[in-house]
Amino acid sequence: MEERIAIQGRDYRFQRPADLETLWEQLDEQDFCADERLPYWVEIWPAGIFLAQWIARQKDRLSMDWCLDLGCGLGVSTCVAAEFTGRALGLDYEFAALSYARRNAGLNGCDAANWALMDWRRPGLKPGSFAFIWGADILYEARFFQPLARIFQELLAPGGIIWLSTPQRKVSEPFWNILAQNDWRISLQDTEHIAYKTYHMQVYLWEITRKTP
Ligand SMILES: C[S@@+](CC[C@H](N)C(=O)[O-])C[C@H]1O[C@@H](n2cnc3c(N)ncnc32)[C@H](O)[C@@H]1O
Repeated sequence: MEERIAIQGRDYRFQRPADLETLWEQLDEQDFCADERLPYWVEIWPAGIFLAQWIARQKDRLSMDWCLDLGCGLGVSTCVAAEFTGRALGLDYEFAALSYARRNAGLNGCDAANWALMDWRRPGLKPGSFAFIWGADILYEARFFQPLARIFQELLAPGGIIWLSTPQRKVSEPFWNILAQNDWRISLQDTEHIAYKTYHMQVYLWEITRKTP
């Protein structure tokens, strides 16, 4: 299946094997365990489109410093960032997601994108090495929050910036308290109603920085 998306005046193509509904039907009981990995990577989410648009608009802020895209899925925001910096790293723990992300980078001529098959609960990346860390629609389960707060603390370079693009979800509310208690400054940068295929939602772009750089 191929999707076409316009980001800041440029048309991108993204391939994926099926839609979420089809993959969902193939899941069995074992997939719904405590560490369940539901195949959300197979969709392009409104928050992912919004983040990619934001990155394209912020391109002058992206230097040649490393940027980390947490839970990159099909690679939309990593591919767009790779147009402006050769140091964009898309991270996901699903092998299938990354193999499509890599293929999508090739389809769009975003060959500078880099990919890491990694679990954000056990990152094997150099501490303090990312000037930017971002993620789209990664705050949908409470068990993600402590590992994400830890990864921000460990991997963000001094003076670095985090961008999170997300719909408003009740389940995400404790995450903002965890960040606030750990000395992060949180500011809303933009919000928009994004309609893509059957998904229609208001999404928010948050910028997070250390209070004491
Ligand atoms: C809702 S999808 C969002 C995908 C993409 N960012 C977008 O907006 O289109 C969440 C993504 O986070 C990934 N993910 C979830 N838990 C993860 C973990 N512990 N480590 C790495 N990736 C994870 C999933 O595989 C999935 O690709």
